[in-house]
Amino acid sequence: MVDVQAHQDTRGSGIPYPFDIRPLTETGGAEVFGLDLSGPIDDAMRDAILRAFLEFHILVFRDQSLTKDQQAAFSRHFGELEHHVGRLPDGSPYPIVHTVTNLDENGKPTPGAVALGNYFWHTDKSYHDIPSLMTMLHAVELPTKGGDTQFTNTRLAYEALSPQMKARIAGLKAEHSWEASRRNSGAPPATEEQKRERPPVAHPITRTHPDTGEKTIYLGNHVSHVIGLPEDESKALIAELMAHIEQPQFIYTHQWRDGDYVMWDNRCLLHRAARNYEIASERRLLHRTVIIGTKPY
Ligand code: OGA
Ligand code: MN
Repeated sequence: MVDVQAHQDTRGSGIPYPFDIRPLTETGGAEVFGLDLSGPIDDAMRDAILRAFLEFHILVFRDQSLTKDQQAAFSRHFGELEHHVGRLPDGSPYPIVHTVTNLDENGKPTPGAVALGNYFWHTDKSYHDIPSLMTMLHAVELPTKGGDTQFTNTRLAYEALSPQMKARIAGLKAEHSWEASRRNSGAPPATEEQKRERPPVAHPITRTHPDTGEKTIYLGNHVSHVIGLPEDESKALIAELMAHIEQPQFIYTHQWRDGDYVMWDNRCLLHRAARNYEIASERRLLHRTVIIGTKPY
């Protein structure tokens, strides 16, 4: 086990945290013990959580039990909550605390209930002009084995690029869209209405983290192409960068435990759901909240 007080990441401020925090891996992630997120959180505690969030990118709060209202209240400490895009099967909008699950409307496990795009490396809502800052998932029902979520650190991946590649992608933008996301994940094509509602957007491939000033690679499953490059060159460049980002040294695999409450930074990570559980028979349900971010630059 890593000694908490002794841990001083060179990126951290050096100020001790007012909670028990243990780094999980070299690539990011830390588990936090002894906090009850269902209760009041004062400004000093909120700031300390944010500091840890910026240092570790993924915070895993163990042993939590929050109602949906409590999750919404806790989430609001970190910004404006974002409505999920799209509609529920009955046409109603998603509630502000929505679910990520393999259960269908009747509560029956079914592979078709999972948004296919979740299985591919992505950063939340990068098909929006203003994508997500933070996503939070609270485990409600977990399969007996597997059902992991994986994260890859695109800050470390950027740092590890060759100077030639850094120079090559500086200033390049990629087009992200709902339509491309559907295509890339093999989901049924976006409807005309969805395309109108969610027109393509352009984001820099080299993104600057607005809070730390560090550079990250901003790509993923919602990307259509690199703007201004011939199609084959665009494809090859995206494939090369994604193969780089997906290397094991940048990845943290979160194996969910009962009571886990996880928050992650969409500005310097890609994530995906692992297909490593019995999706057709075991139950997996998490409550989700998302905080709106800022326009990438
Ligand atoms: C998400 C997501 C992955 C998972 O909630 O944004 O991608 O493991 N979830 O459920
Ligand atoms: Mn996601």
